[in-house]
Amino acid sequence: MQWHSPPCLLSLAPVHQSEPPRIATRIQQMRAVVFHGIRDIRLDTVPDPTIKNPTDAIVRITSSAICGTDLHMIRGSMPGMVEGTVMGHEGVGVIEEVGSSVRNLRPGQRVVIPSTIACGHCSYCRDGYTAQCDEANPNGHLAGTAFYGGPQQTGPFDGLQAEYARIPHANVNLVPLHPEITDHQAICLSDIASTGWFGADIADIEAGRGKTVLVMGCGPVGLFSILGAWHKGAQRVIAVDRLPDRLDKARELGAETINFDEENPIEAIRELTGGIGPDRAIDVVGVDAFMPTKGPMRVLEKRAEQYAEQVERLAEAGADTNAAHFAAGDAPSLSLEWATEALAKAGTLAIIGVYPQSHNAFPIGTAMNKNITMRMGNANHKKYVQELVELVRRGGLKPEHILSQMEPMTDVIAAYETFDAQNKGWVKVELNPAA
Ligand SMILES: NC(=O)c1ccc[n+]([C@@H]2O[C@H](COP(=O)([O-])OP(=O)(O)OC[C@H]3O[C@@H](n4cnc5c(N)ncnc54)[C@H](O)[C@@H]3O)[C@@H](O)[C@H]2O)c1
Ligand SMILES: [Zn+2]
Ligand SMILES: [Zn+2]
Repeated sequence: MQWHSPPCLLSLAPVHQSEPPRIATRIQQMRAVVFHGIRDIRLDTVPDPTIKNPTDAIVRITSSAICGTDLHMIRGSMPGMVEGTVMGHEGVGVIEEVGSSVRNLRPGQRVVIPSTIACGHCSYCRDGYTAQCDEANPNGHLAGTAFYGGPQQTGPFDGLQAEYARIPHANVNLVPLHPEITDHQAICLSDIASTGWFGADIADIEAGRGKTVLVMGCGPVGLFSILGAWHKGAQRVIAVDRLPDRLDKARELGAETINFDEENPIEAIRELTGGIGPDRAIDVVGVDAFMPTKGPMRVLEKRAEQYAEQVERLAEAGADTNAAHFAAGDAPSLSLEWATEALAKAGTLAIIGVYPQSHNAFPIGTAMNKNITMRMGNANHKKYVQELVELVRRGGLKPEHILSQMEPMTDVIAAYETFDAQNKGWVKVELNPAA
């Protein structure tokens, strides 16, 4: 791991469950990353969260992280953010306080926080669809996924890029950690690893043998989708991106890589698969898909027109494809198009890249005429987090290798900008809220 600034390793050392609660000494004000507007986030001092419902817990966050989903929201390509919302949906910490109805946890316990919020008792939660919980979203049972630090439609709930966070339905939304699992490991499970596992799961890789899996996008979630695909029994994984450092990581994980700034990805995929295409594809790019900036695909100037309407729709919500920082993607449906075109006939497309409700472009004709099966959605984090905690404890996964940066909270805005600019080596940023 590359350390940007002197890390305070001690503050990140596993805290044993017997650590006494610090309720008495808790500060009343905390630092948090706050959304003020599109392309405008700030490190503010805000009041500490407090228990609102007897099912809540307050967690002192010892590790957080910046996700590609946070970028969509700051870029404006995932609209609906409310000014004042604390950002972030990845967190590990120590329980400070529990409400009177939380019967399975106690202050002092180390926990990882699954990104999406579930009630644990509705029919969806009982079936494992925790990201479609009927109860957790205050906007009602049809509003969709509830998660921390998201747009109005998702709650909104204050997020986890803060010193403290309120966790609703804490009995199900906190997963205790074994002392031997480090914060560096656990922070990867909160969202990126569990989403990668979810993507590989809904791509239905396990059914049958000899599966060739295409992973579109080699950000942190894409890299965990590669690992998830191997875990589910893939025989070959092909990964597409344009950033050489991320493609190098994908190659280290055993994927056959294609740089879409250097070659036509569809032709390269066909060549690698005997003209057939992959059996499974996982889109891990989402709405901020970018057009090639060079190479043979750059000549497709007409594509700019093709995406004009999609880009205009994003612009209406405040996104700007030409902004100096936090520029939105200029080809929102491109990854979905490439994945659908590349897939073998009767293949399966899993979509875990995030698209806003206003996005309605998808190559349905191509998919229909190839008998493509599609599955998609927000990860049902809870189930995968629990599974992955056990896998990491047994030594079956070393998720911390995907982390590339450890940044103190004092540098968080600069860290966001550098991650957004996709500077070389900036694959996944872990945040230390206490530093
Ligand atoms: N479904 C869920 O529950 C869930 C959870 C977490 C993240 N996500 C989503 O997963 C996606 C990836 O997250 P991340 O943190 O890895 O983001 P990221 O921004 O770090 O990675 C996206 C990658 O896609 C690449 N890319 C851009 N245009 C492309 C194109 N045309 N073809 C192929 N690759 C292209 C980028 O270069 C980048 O490496 C985001 O959309 C994020 O919102 C979904
Ligand atoms: Zn995320
Ligand atoms: Zn529920």
